[in-house]
Order: sequence, then C-alpha cells, then structure tokens
Amino acid sequence: MATAEPEIALDEDTVRAALAGVPYPGMTRDLVSFGMVKHVSVCGTQVKVQLALRTEDPSIPERLGATVRDHLGAIGATLVSVEIVKPDPQTRPLPHSPTGKAPRAGVPDPWAEQVRLTNVRDVIAVGAGKGGVGKSTVAVSLALALVRAGFVVGLLDADIYGPSVPILLGIENGSQQIKVTPDKHIIPVEVFGLSLISFGFFLGEGSPAIWRGPMVSKAVKQFARGVEWPQLDVLVVDLPPGTGDIPLSLVQAIEVSGAVVVTQPQRLAGVEAQKAGEMFAQLDVPVLGVVENMTGAFGHGGGEIVASSLGVPFLGTVPFDIDVVQEGDSGTPTVVTRQDSEFSRSFDVIAGKIVGALGWQLAQPPNSQS
Ligand SMILES: Nc1ncnc2c1ncn2[C@@H]1O[C@H](COP(=O)(O)OP(=O)(O)OP(=O)(O)O)[C@@H](O)[C@H]1O
Ligand SMILES: [Mg+2]
Repeated sequence: MATAEPEIALDEDTVRAALAGVPYPGMTRDLVSFGMVKHVSVCGTQVKVQLALRTEDPSIPERLGATVRDHLGAIGATLVSVEIVKPDPQTRPLPHSPTGKAPRAGVPDPWAEQVRLTNVRDVIAVGAGKGGVGKSTVAVSLALALVRAGFVVGLLDADIYGPSVPILLGIENGSQQIKVTPDKHIIPVEVFGLSLISFGFFLGEGSPAIWRGPMVSKAVKQFARGVEWPQLDVLVVDLPPGTGDIPLSLVQAIEVSGAVVVTQPQRLAGVEAQKAGEMFAQLDVPVLGVVENMTGAFGHGGGEIVASSLGVPFLGTVPFDIDVVQEGDSGTPTVVTRQDSEFSRSFDVIAGKIVGALGWQLAQPPNSQS
C-alpha cells in the first residue's frame, strides 16, 4: 500500500537533485550543471538556496525563484528562500596566459572560470536564432573585410554541430594541418590572411549531435581557451543556430566584447533573431547590432525592425547574390574574389560600423600590419 503522507527527509543532496531539474530560462541546461547553485542549506523542510547569476534582466531572478520553489515544493519543502547573488568580482576576470593553465576557482561560480584572452583585443560573436540565415557566410565575410581594412583577425568556428567555415574557406583535411605547441595548445591555420580554428578540425567519427549539455560545455571551454592565437585585434566567433548551450558556454569561458545578430528580411527569421539578441543581453554581452542578410530575394526591412525592437544599431543589409552559394561551396570567398561586388562592399560598411562600435579608428588599426 502506498503511504499517503510519507515522512519527508530533505537533505542537501535531495535538494540539489531537484535543482538539477530546473532549466535556466530559455536554455536546455539546468542550474546545477551550469554551476549556478552556490549554496544549499536545509533545516527540516525549510530550504535556502543561493544562486549566482550574472544577468541584468530583472525578470530572470523572479522567474527562476518561482520555478525553484515549484520544484522544491514538489519534493516536500515547505519554505523555500532563494537568494540571488552576483558572482564574486574577485574571481573574474582571471588572468590568462596562452602558455599557462587557466587558474581553477574553488567555488562553483558559473562565471568564475571566464578568462580574458590576453592576446585578443576584442571577441565578437556572430549569432542568429534561426539556422541557415547566413551566419557563417557573414562571420567569414566580416572577418575578411576586417582583414582588408588592415586588422589582424582570427576566426573561431564554434559550430560544433555543423562547422562549415573550413568549406567556405576552402580548407580540406584541416585536422591534418593542425599543429600543437609542446604544452598542447592548438596553433591556428592561416588562410586568406586570417588565423582560423574550427571545431570541424577536431570532430572524429563520433557524432556531436548526441552530446549532452555538460559535454558540449566542456568541449567549448577547452576549445575556446586552448588555442595559441597570435596577437589579434579581433576574434570573430561563428556560433551554431539557436540560443542553446554553446553561446552560454562560450560566454562563460571567455570575455566576449559584443555580438552581431544576423537575420533575414522575412518576419519569421526576425522572431528568432530577436530571441538571439535577448539571449546575448541576458548574458551581459552587448549586441553591437543587427545585419540583414539575403536582402532582395526575400524582401527587405526585417533587420531594421529587429534592431529597433532590440534597441541596438542596424549595421546594414547584405544583398542576396546567387554566386555567393557556389563561391562558398568552392571555398573561394566572395569578399576576396569579387571585391567590387555589392556583396563585398556591404561588408566594408558593416565592418566600419563594428569598428566604430568597438571604439577603434578604421584608418589606424590597433595592430597595424602594413
Ligand atoms: N547574401 C547571400 N546571398 C546568397 N546566398 C547566401 C547569402 N548568404 C548566405 N548564402 C547561402 O546560404 C546558405 C546558408 O548560409 P550559411 O551556411 O552561412 O548559414 P548559417 O546561418 O551559418 O547556417 P547554419 O545555421 O547551418 O550554421 C549557404 O549556401 C550560403 O552560401
Ligand atoms: Mg553556420
């Protein structure tokens, strides 16, 4: 016979197990695996939970508090107090040496392990909620436009599920070109004047599509920090579609200066781009602006709508250009091979605006290479 009123024995482990069922709002991963649960204390059926959050979005603590209370109520907690704390400022940013190991923090603070890549001046993430809107094309073209403007540029293809940058840049057998330093840091491949590292260089036969959140998170962290970048003005990061674990893991791993949101002219892409913009804002990553890609074929105007509803600058439109597809497939990037095309010139405009947003002078790149 099932007993109707079981004796409830709450302890820290039970509470932590229940918190492992609480997803961070908008993400698939839970609070525990993100390391956001700083402290749990239990007294009978009264529970006190301390969460370390870095978001400026005031609705997140409220929403999380309610969900935590629901989950703990379900295991018999009668009084739940949820305290939200900011991560200890003394634990971040940690100094990072490309040849040394990142220091480990003792407290499970989700941001404690965030490091600043010391030889990279600014990190820019390129994201979009929707797949196939041209993120990778925009990331590659933007990186190459910045090279053309005289900056020293790196490109990190962090799309673990569908790394396409090696194809766009014509790199075959990337994994065979990879060299590592004696202390196991990866040396980027040089291509079209930029330094490139792609997840695609490291994916073996195993399918990352089945990786669970914590595995993805660990891989992204190692990958983002384990590269011996040369002294860079800017590192452009190509993100996978969606608002899932990879952007969050990336932002937890390294300091990101700003994000560029890519959208398409049509409305549906705009809804997803809006979500991506909100995700970056939640993660305290300033959105530098919105790019509308494939303008013309699907109308125009969607990008400006997204930018104004996010309250961020509109960086410009990139025309639909049918030859771009073939040029991407054959690894001959349009920005290099057809510099006078409208497509390429649109990236000069976008690069100029990004440079302005980061406070650089276009005429005087911080790491002048010519
Ligand atoms: N402005 C453009 N004009 C014409 N074709 C384009 C343009 N931008 C991108 N494409 C094409 O659209 C397709 C998707 O682009 P891309 O792979 O860059 O998108 P993505 O958002 O990175 O996709 P995923 O979500 O799979 O990572 C590619 O075939 C690419 O060549
Ligand atoms: Mg892509």
